[in-house]
Amino acid sequence: KNIVILISGRGSNMEAVVRACAAEQWPARVAAVISNKADAKGLEFAKAHGIPTAVVSNKDYPTRDAFDAALQQVIDGFAPDLVVLAGFMRILTATFVEHYAGRLLNIHPSLLPLFPGLDTHRQALDAGVLEHGATVHFVTAQLDHGPVVAQARIDVRPGDTPDTLAARLLSEEHKLYPYAVRLFVEDRLSIVDDGVVIAEANK
Ligand code: GRF
Repeated sequence: KNIVILISGRGSNMEAVVRACAAEQWPARVAAVISNKADAKGLEFAKAHGIPTAVVSNKDYPTRDAFDAALQQVIDGFAPDLVVLAGFMRILTATFVEHYAGRLLNIHPSLLPLFPGLDTHRQALDAGVLEHGATVHFVTAQLDHGPVVAQARIDVRPGDTPDTLAARLLSEEHKLYPYAVRLFVEDRLSIVDDGVVIAEANK
């Protein structure tokens, strides 16, 4: 299967997926890493690992529709079975999302449905929750909604700041996202009603 990963910055989740795909010999390959920012750090890792990269800058397009259409064309050039959003900081149009229905995953740093949107660690601290986490979900037109594939949880500790929470959660994300992507490429995920059913591994 062909995986295309979209990033906007550091790309540490992309890196975790690339490493797991190779180390665990998934029935898949990362066909491309695409960024909306030319200076995204993650592009360097992708290039160093021989993965084709592309930049589609949202600044080059007058509207969200035009940007998404251009992005879609570049993505589809890599014939993706799965598109993985990994710190991709653009809201996508309904047309784009529908084009990839059932094959578009995102990781969001909260226990959805809690704390959609930005500043999730700050939101969690302000709400006083004892537990925080990250969610991998299929993307639907409604931002940070969509069928949940898997979640990782961490305790909130006294003295935590948004930065300490983010750092502790990130290492969980680096296990969670490869786990979820692997389930997809092994054809073990089905969307039933608004949820996700995970099939057992083939022996
Ligand atoms: C992660 O915390 C992810 O959950 C959020 O943005 C961050 C991206 O980090 N969507 P990286 O670019 O994968 O290092």
